[in-house]
Amino acid sequence: MNTGARLLVLLVLLVLVGRLAGLKPNSGYCIGTGCVALFWQPADFRSAQKLCRDQRAQLVTVRSSVSSDVLSVLLGNFTGSFWIGLHRPAGCPNLAEVLFGYGWVTKDSESDLNNFGSSFNSSCSAPRCVSVSREDSFRWGQTPCAQLAAGFLCEFSFTDPCRTLPAAPDRSVHYMTPYGFGVEDLQLVPPGTTATRFPSGTKHICSSGQWLHAPWSCEIQDGGCEYKCAKTPGDGPVCFCPPGQTVNHANRVSCAAPGPGDPCAALRCQQLCREAEDGSARCACEHGLKLAEDASSCVDVDECADPRQCPGENFRCVNTQLGFACVCKVGYKKHRDRCVDVDECVSAPCEHTCVNTPGSYTCACYHGYRPADKAPNKCELFCGAEECPATCDPNDPRQCYCPDGFLSEERRTGVFCLDIDECSYNYCDQDCSNMPGSYLCSCSTGYKLVDLYRCVETDEEPEGSGTAPSPSAPSPSAPSPRAPTSVPDPGPTRRPSAVTPMGLVGIIVCVVLLIVLVVFGLHIGLSVRKKSSAAERKAAEDETPSLNKVTSNTSDTSDSRDNM
Ligand SMILES: *[C@@H]1O[C@H](CO)[C@@H](O)[C@H](O)[C@H]1NC(C)=O
Ligand SMILES: *[C@@H]1O[C@H](CO)[C@@H](O)[C@H](O)[C@H]1NC(C)=O
Repeated sequence: MNTGARLLVLLVLLVLVGRLAGLKPNSGYCIGTGCVALFWQPADFRSAQKLCRDQRAQLVTVRSSVSSDVLSVLLGNFTGSFWIGLHRPAGCPNLAEVLFGYGWVTKDSESDLNNFGSSFNSSCSAPRCVSVSREDSFRWGQTPCAQLAAGFLCEFSFTDPCRTLPAAPDRSVHYMTPYGFGVEDLQLVPPGTTATRFPSGTKHICSSGQWLHAPWSCEIQDGGCEYKCAKTPGDGPVCFCPPGQTVNHANRVSCAAPGPGDPCAALRCQQLCREAEDGSARCACEHGLKLAEDASSCVDVDECADPRQCPGENFRCVNTQLGFACVCKVGYKKHRDRCVDVDECVSAPCEHTCVNTPGSYTCACYHGYRPADKAPNKCELFCGAEECPATCDPNDPRQCYCPDGFLSEERRTGVFCLDIDECSYNYCDQDCSNMPGSYLCSCSTGYKLVDLYRCVETDEEPEGSGTAPSPSAPSPSAPSPRAPTSVPDPGPTRRPSAVTPMGLVGIIVCVVLLIVLVVFGLHIGLSVRKKSSAAERKAAEDETPSLNKVTSNTSDTSDSRDNM
């Protein structure tokens, strides 16, 4: 059954079974596509009709002798009068009419039967409502409508019946109608009826003319389970039993403790216990669940383990508590029934340029910049050599910028960024190698690098009790270059990690910036602010539109300056 049909069945059943919440009848009987239910509850005619209507029924009409026989069967065990759906809303009794001027609550007087007794009172003031009683041989008795009768009879009619389940001599079927009464004998089964076969205990529910095997939807009477119903991925709901009991695997709904000598007794299976022919037993689980490692409880299956679960390009499978869901991969969105690429660049996630790719995007930086180490969508100034042309604002050529670890220098040909030789400041205990924008400390054999600049002897002395920092080293609170080293290598070393050479340089640049700011902050500030007349001229000619505060045209600018 597909999902839509399942849902429809569920809705229909919910409506049908919802009636059960109302008043409970004391007995009932079904014939053809109708059922009559007896309510043994004092009521006047009007409230009896309302109680019937509340259950989408009406007071019973008795148009044939067969219907009358049904009443006599139902009323056989009850004394007192019971309302039927016959009354005289207006006018006087008239012996010439079909029902002597009375009519059904269905607002018609069609009837093959007139069961008024010989004591029919034809005076205009005769009582307007009709009841029946065993005492009066189930004849129609005129009764004042406001009188409290012992009860009333409601009539239900239905469509889409199921056929009765085949019965066998040694088996019986009990039907529980959606109207709240059970019957053994039926011709047509109202939808919403549950049928239990004995002695097997298998259960079915009638839905839209078809029988569904229990456990059906957990929403409807707990799926028919004796103890508890649980939804499962895959093939629908399953029944559970209290600990120590197992679900009967023949009927799948009833619970029973395994008997003495039963190999299942010791297993305490959560769901099923299967006996093998050799007498051994093992626990099993309903479809959609698998046996847990404890060999007795059942756990959800990871449906997503099957790569075929979510076919279609760019879908991925997400395991849920009761199954799985197919969703779009990251970077894709659902469009109709496909997953299409999301153009992330629309939301301008990059500082400089953005290139959309299937499922993702990449940021790029203008010339003279490179992606920032900690935020790859941001760009930072970069110079991979001892000197590079400075990056100047084309709208304000006095505004020139250098990467961290560089100093700007004004020349005839423009503003240039010169690498600071940090090694000349003796930051490192031992060896130092200068790099564009930064530097690396390293130690001789027998020493190891500590705090990125200190070298301590590598005997087993605990850290800190070794060599004191040399006088030239910055105080421990000062920023230090990041350059862990392996002990035996006297030369500059690189961290054996996933950090790329560029990344390492980036880290160093960041750290050195702080040092440079501390040591040369004032000097840099003055230097950068100095205006280059050459740069100013160039920028005036070359009105490149600015994409950001600083542009990337450094190389172009420097080329043309060189030509000047
Ligand atoms: C009447 O009562 C008898 C005995 O209690 C019972 O077997 C029978 O089913 C009852 N009939 C109805 C229609 O309730
Ligand atoms: C018919 O019913 C009216 C009103 O209840 C009553 O006054 C009258 O006596 C009844 N007639 C017979 C013949 O029972």
